[in-house]
Amino acid sequence: MDSFLSKLSILFVLLVATPLALAQTRVGFYSTSCPRAESIVQATVKKHVNSDSTVAPGLLRMVFHDCFKTARPNLLLRGYEVIEDAKTQLEAACPGVVSCADILALAARDATVEVGALTYRVPTGRRDGRVSLASDTANLPSFTDSVAVQKKKFADVGLSAQDLVTLVGGHTIGTVACQFVSYRLYNFTNSGGADPTIDPSFLPTLQSLCPKNGDGNKRIALDYGSGNNFDRSFFKNVRDGRGILESDQSLWQDSTTRNFAQRFMGIRGLAGLTLNVEFGKSMIKMTNIGVNTGTAGEIRKVCSRVN
Ligand SMILES: *[C@@H]1O[C@H](CO)[C@@H](O)[C@H](O)[C@H]1NC(C)=O
Repeated sequence: MDSFLSKLSILFVLLVATPLALAQTRVGFYSTSCPRAESIVQATVKKHVNSDSTVAPGLLRMVFHDCFKTARPNLLLRGYEVIEDAKTQLEAACPGVVSCADILALAARDATVEVGALTYRVPTGRRDGRVSLASDTANLPSFTDSVAVQKKKFADVGLSAQDLVTLVGGHTIGTVACQFVSYRLYNFTNSGGADPTIDPSFLPTLQSLCPKNGDGNKRIALDYGSGNNFDRSFFKNVRDGRGILESDQSLWQDSTTRNFAQRFMGIRGLAGLTLNVEFGKSMIKMTNIGVNTGTAGEIRKVCSRVN
């Protein structure tokens, strides 16, 4: 009988525990626990994006850092004040209910929609990590990474080469400081000249945007000529040797990533891809990587630190 009871209790534990272990994010997670959650985030994002054009790319960048396990919503990243603003309002409306991880996933969506992307439904129900700073920051893609390295870093977190091209396509908005560009312009790999993958007719323009020995903190658009709109012109710039980051330009050197870029550009004879549609899908994949759900983690009271 004792043994029967213990088997029964094991069975009970399995039955109860399994749904928790399988808990996943889903659309509308807060529909009863905090019905205004998504509209509060959306209104907050709209307010900030309209007063500061660096907010939308900042939130996208933050999702990247989060996914590649660097610091969680981080005070140093542009756009962090949006997360904190939304969190303050949500704590007033529904204390202890909405996670910072969900606020970030929703805010990144709402910000890209504000600058021209199509909307998509964000599954929610994430919980926040109990550590604030991850020790391993080595896997965040870098602006000097080859395509092989970029593919590897994405594959390591479960993202495909198509996700890579799609998410790098997010550089259709955003800026970079000249200190990460100038090395390509004057004495690239000690050659005495510029990176040969830069369009020679574009080089003087880029050199005037980032002058030799100029201000390394000056920021320039990643999508030349269209930095404030979410569109596919980024891929045309890359095709034309006008990619600003070495890692972005390198997508054109690799046949797999070039093919995806061409499909986004709508090249005749290739199965077309729509950046607006694929971007949402890849963002959902990225924001679901390594999430805490169910009873894992916690709901932070303040997004910059654990409770
Ligand atoms: C490029 O860098 C190398 C190594 O530092 C240096 O020897 C060379 O003089 C530089 N060339 C120019 C044009 O600045």
